[in-house]
Amino acid sequence: MPHVVTQSCCSDASCVVACPVNCIHPAPGEPGFAEAEMLYVDAASCVDCGACATACPADAIVPHTTLTEAQQPFLALNAEYFQVFPHRDRTPLALVHEQRRLKRKGPFRVAVVGAGPAGLYAADELLKHPEITVDVFDRLPTPYGLVRAGVAPDHQHTKQIERLFSQIESQPGFRYFLGVEVGKHVSHAELTARYHAVVYTVGAASDKALGIPGDDLPGSLSATDFVGWYNGHPDKQTLDVRLDAASNPSGRVVIVGNGNVALDCARVLAEDPDVLARTDVADGPYAALCDSNVREVVVLGRRGPAEAAFTVPELVGLAGHDGLNVVVDTGDLPPEVAFAGDDVKGRLLGELRDRPVDPAKRTIVLRFLASPTAVVAGEDGRVAAVDVGRNRLQLDEGGVPRAVPTGETERLDTGLLLRAVGYKGVPVADLPYDAATGTVPNDRGRVLPGVYVAGWVKRGPTGFIGTNKSDAEETVDRLLDDLDTGAIPEPVGDAQTVAAVIRGRQPALVDLAGWQAIDAEERRRGAAAGRPRAKIVDVDEMHRVAATARGPRYARLRRGRS
Ligand SMILES: Cc1cc2nc3c(=O)[nH]c(=O)nc-3n(C[C@H](O)[C@H](O)[C@H](O)COP(=O)(O)OP(=O)(O)OC[C@H]3O[C@@H](n4cnc5c(N)ncnc54)[C@H](O)[C@@H]3O)c2cc1C
Ligand SMILES: NC(=O)c1ccc[n+]([C@@H]2O[C@H](COP(=O)([O-])OP(=O)(O)OC[C@H]3O[C@@H](n4cnc5c(N)ncnc54)[C@H](OP(=O)(O)O)[C@@H]3O)[C@@H](O)[C@H]2O)c1
Ligand code: SF4
Ligand code: SF4
Repeated sequence: MPHVVTQSCCSDASCVVACPVNCIHPAPGEPGFAEAEMLYVDAASCVDCGACATACPADAIVPHTTLTEAQQPFLALNAEYFQVFPHRDRTPLALVHEQRRLKRKGPFRVAVVGAGPAGLYAADELLKHPEITVDVFDRLPTPYGLVRAGVAPDHQHTKQIERLFSQIESQPGFRYFLGVEVGKHVSHAELTARYHAVVYTVGAASDKALGIPGDDLPGSLSATDFVGWYNGHPDKQTLDVRLDAASNPSGRVVIVGNGNVALDCARVLAEDPDVLARTDVADGPYAALCDSNVREVVVLGRRGPAEAAFTVPELVGLAGHDGLNVVVDTGDLPPEVAFAGDDVKGRLLGELRDRPVDPAKRTIVLRFLASPTAVVAGEDGRVAAVDVGRNRLQLDEGGVPRAVPTGETERLDTGLLLRAVGYKGVPVADLPYDAATGTVPNDRGRVLPGVYVAGWVKRGPTGFIGTNKSDAEETVDRLLDDLDTGAIPEPVGDAQTVAAVIRGRQPALVDLAGWQAIDAEERRRGAAAGRPRAKIVDVDEMHRVAATARGPRYARLRRGRS
């Protein structure tokens, strides 16, 4: 079996286009692509050319000879997929569509608000048109959204997508306005007046609440904040995370929700500090993780193993982690019921259930059919325990298994409760907002002619990095339609007046050279410690480093002012 997709797949499908024998599926446009947790290579057809590995921005596809022991299950996963979906037609896919060309002459200016994956994929798609220039704004002085501040530090291969992003940002016609918050430094009306189109790709900055008593106690945190904390998000560095023995004598953390974010948090909490030391985890959180008393992380899934929201590749990664125990607890559900059916997730969980536990290692407990019912305060007013109720499954009218409380509860001592029950979008100033979904209502990305959305603010907080590529393409298609039909009025001013207005409001804005200076400095500091980068987490320091890109005199001036 020559090449294999491994767990770090981000589903952007660059490999599919590169493959000369069309043996990577599901491909864009095929059933299942949009929902695919990973893509699969047909061993029988792969000619081992390596083109996919070169094309993959996340180093997710490798020759089978280089698979580690923990990655071996991917061989079977790839083979099993083709037993069910043979995809017999091996004609190379004509996925390189004829490039759409604008009917009107231009030039056209587009503002993209949010430099996460959706924003950068949208910019890339727009820059395929020489008539279009793109200004990308982000409220932080650093780009890449959740790739920098969400993807777990022990998933460095996934963060390699940054190489693709750095190619996108280096294209002619691309400009960064980093450290510029739309709604604060510049308004929606000012952008729409100066650009032909504004594309919002602001993600989903908040989180869902649990709505149980005690959820707001100190020591009860959202995974959204916790993830930002360990990843060095400047807004999250003062988060009150206490992992030491005095604050958490139980040695236990409870995480609610069993999606991939819950698994990320559990792994980071249970990880050997020596492993974390070789990542880009932020320095303050790293010190707290080194001083951690945590021995057990309990992940509560309200439904059963078959309904778990985490993906198979992530479970394979966890199962192959030899530095920790993974315990599967299905409560009263007998194994023949809990792991019934032939789905891969159930099979893997069933295998994990039978593994012996090494008391010398930290343990992640995947506990199913369990929901928190109340958070209990200790004498100091902080979280001391969580009451956990048992559930059973009951099919709703649509045949979907739902969790129903049995009435049995149990108290779990813990000093830290994390709710990883999903992210949630926040309203965007001057745009309509659907509070139920946390998104901006849109028609395939169009809010109205001239205003568009892509990524999590468009479709809600689900999907992988690469999912935002096809999502952004759909949005840009609507934008090009509106340019073609003349539905968008001509803006005032030119590109220079735009920059002047924004610089007047935010003189410390960071451009591409400034970001490259921050990036280089972080890598330099990291290299000295054998790490990919040592993140700068203070915004003022980021601005000081960015200013060095404008020459020593500018840097001296800025130092004098601060
Ligand atoms: C914890 C976590 C881990 C993940 N790990 C993986 C993984 O390993 N692999 C994978 O494939 N996918 C992963 N994902 C999913 C992936 O990160 C998302 O699909 C993707 O980041 C969503 O892209 P986005 O551009 O819509 O939003 P974001 O990445 O959130 O980017 C939004 C950007 O908008 C900026 N912004 C917000 N408001 C404003 C404003 N008013 N003005 C200017 N800028 C603004 C923000 O600063 C941010 O940079 C993970 C998600 C999470 C939450
Ligand atoms: N490595 C990766 O590829 C990676 C890493 C991180 C994130 N991501 C992606 O980013 C997206 C967001 O991930 P996520 O983990 O935040 O969301 P998610 O996948 O939607 O998972 C949310 C979890 O919370 C549970 N939940 C919701 N409300 C609850 C409540 N009131 N009580 C108890 N449990 C509740 C859900 O259970 P129900 O199913 O019962 O509703 C589900 O298990 C996902 O698409 C994910 O795949 C990918
Ligand atoms: S990350 Fe993208 S290019 Fe790499 S294997 Fe997955 S779909 Fe293919
Ligand atoms: S190695 Fe070549 S033939 Fe095999 S999957 Fe990759 S691109 Fe296709």
